Amino acid sequence: MKTRLTELLGIEQPIVLASMAWITDAVLAATVSRAGGLGTIGPNPGMKTVTTDVEETGERLRQQIRTCRELTDRPFAVNFVVGVGGFDRKFSDQCVEVGIEERVPVAIVSQGSPAVYTRRLKEAGMKVIHVCSSVKHVKKAEAEGVDAVVASGTEGGGHSGFDQITTLCLVPQAVDAIGIPVIAGGGIGDGRGLMAALSLGAEGVYMGTRFIATKECPAHPRIKEIILEASDTSTIAVRHGNPSHSKETGAGNQGFVEERRGSIRLVLNDYLRNILADRSVGFDDIFATAETPDPNTGSNRTVASFVFGQVDGTSITSGQIAGLIRDIPSCEELIRRMVSEASQVLGRLKDLS
Ligand SMILES: Cc1cc2nc3c(=O)[nH]c(=O)nc-3n(C[C@H](O)[C@H](O)[C@H](O)COP(=O)(O)O)c2cc1C
Repeated sequence: MKTRLTELLGIEQPIVLASMAWITDAVLAATVSRAGGLGTIGPNPGMKTVTTDVEETGERLRQQIRTCRELTDRPFAVNFVVGVGGFDRKFSDQCVEVGIEERVPVAIVSQGSPAVYTRRLKEAGMKVIHVCSSVKHVKKAEAEGVDAVVASGTEGGGHSGFDQITTLCLVPQAVDAIGIPVIAGGGIGDGRGLMAALSLGAEGVYMGTRFIATKECPAHPRIKEIILEASDTSTIAVRHGNPSHSKETGAGNQGFVEERRGSIRLVLNDYLRNILADRSVGFDDIFATAETPDPNTGSNRTVASFVFGQVDGTSITSGQIAGLIRDIPSCEELIRRMVSEASQVLGRLKDLS
């Protein structure tokens, strides 16, 4: 399938592997790229331990980029999550420098302003895609000079922005607002979703949850089971504070501004039910403890669940589309099947006229 996105990136199918911390490693990214899509290496790719060392974080990424290059000569992307605050920014600055040194073809930048890295990445010759969750943000990304945006709806797994706009509503409004290609993210799981996104004016799809349940995804089998067992109501979006964004609204770092809270979509398991019942525990605690390194194990709760399968008593992120997922194909099978389903949909729609 050809769109402006496939032309821009030099790929065969308008299907992008969305970044998923810890599990979108070099092998998964290269597999998706070899199958004709665009593979993405996410944060802490393929790691089993947490490091708080900035240099080591960069070197781990460098190894993954080199491994991906050994496995494919096709284009691939690296996700740079814009660091919030002084400490975190050092990590993303380091990863961006490593990405530039390693001549990564495509940068996917998320969770921060496009003003931070776009110029530096473009000057280094990369194609830049920015992940956005509102019309205001896609306009800002275009004005900063990015090549394409992901319009990311609240159905998606992981962080889904402040405004909780659905993909169905966000994508056509983003398409109308800007001239560069829009990629639909959140809630895409098969060829029907792909065709729906293209019908809304998107020129590609950005899929995370669907790729967890693939043979090549290194997520623990228990996580894949949770995805396969999920129904339409298995996840909820919960709000959490983010001090860097409260600054934008003038609230400073002291407190969070309720209406500017970001949200994260999580599986509604017993752990989350207990937290929902206990009003003394905030959602900030869920998020902070999931990523905080445990000095005894050198791990954290996200690693424990996604990498080692310790899924009880912790939060697990997944998109709403998990309810549609019933098998674990290879990435190649999945992409081939989606393209074939999309052409069946096209045939069906033609029959309507
Ligand atoms: C397990 C998991 C981890 C994620 N980690 C990241 C991340 O590290 N960086 C990021 O920008 N988005 C992250 N996301 C969000 C995805 O990149 C993407 O926006 C989302 O999965 C798309 O929606 P879908 O899950 O319905 O396909 C994550 C999503 C999931 C499910």
